[in-house]
Amino acid sequence: MSESSVVGGIELDAQRHFRNTLAMFATGVAVITAPRESGTPIGITVASFNAVSLDPPLILFSVDRRCQSLGDLCATPRYAVNVLAEAQQDISNRFARAHSGKWEGIDFGPRDAASHVLLPDALATFECEPYAQHDGGDHVIFIGRVVRHQSRQDGRPLIFFGGKYRALDASPAAA
Ligand SMILES: Cc1cc2nc3c(=O)[nH]c(=O)nc-3n(C[C@H](O)[C@H](O)[C@H](O)COP(=O)(O)O)c2cc1C
Repeated sequence: MSESSVVGGIELDAQRHFRNTLAMFATGVAVITAPRESGTPIGITVASFNAVSLDPPLILFSVDRRCQSLGDLCATPRYAVNVLAEAQQDISNRFARAHSGKWEGIDFGPRDAASHVLLPDALATFECEPYAQHDGGDHVIFIGRVVRHQSRQDGRPLIFFGGKYRALDASPAAA
């Protein structure tokens, strides 16, 4: 069944249709992490991660202005994008809720504000320094300059499509 709608304002029905249409773009899932001066790091699940530029090496993601971590993320001198593996659906759910226990039981390495915070077992990580922030309506668009990156070639990604988690069928698409 197809849905179509003109998005002309804040009408809720139109907004729901817009979200459903956007959900037809399959993405991976990532968690944005960053140290906080005072204790527990930032951790936000995002599907809005994307590549921007090779030279300089730039990536982007967008964060809802209602996110509790937004203020700290705007001010941090370093953040990382952790691309989640298929087996990390629980990690995605954990960092998609605004609550204080996000990091319980997770070893994220050095606890000083000068180090990047990385999630163990991620499929890929991009350590970034802030490059630009832009107005994105009800979101803020973050562009990060990648200073270090690594990936596991053996793993499989967690996929988000149609509002649900999916597994990748790694067979080539039919011609
Ligand atoms: C699969 C998935 C993708 C998401 N993508 C985004 C996103 O791109 N941007 C965003 O702001 N929130 C996104 N969210 C919602 C945030 O993870 C959620 O609002 C989180 O609680 C924010 O953390 P905070 O309020 O502690 O800052 C996503 C959630 C899920 C489950």
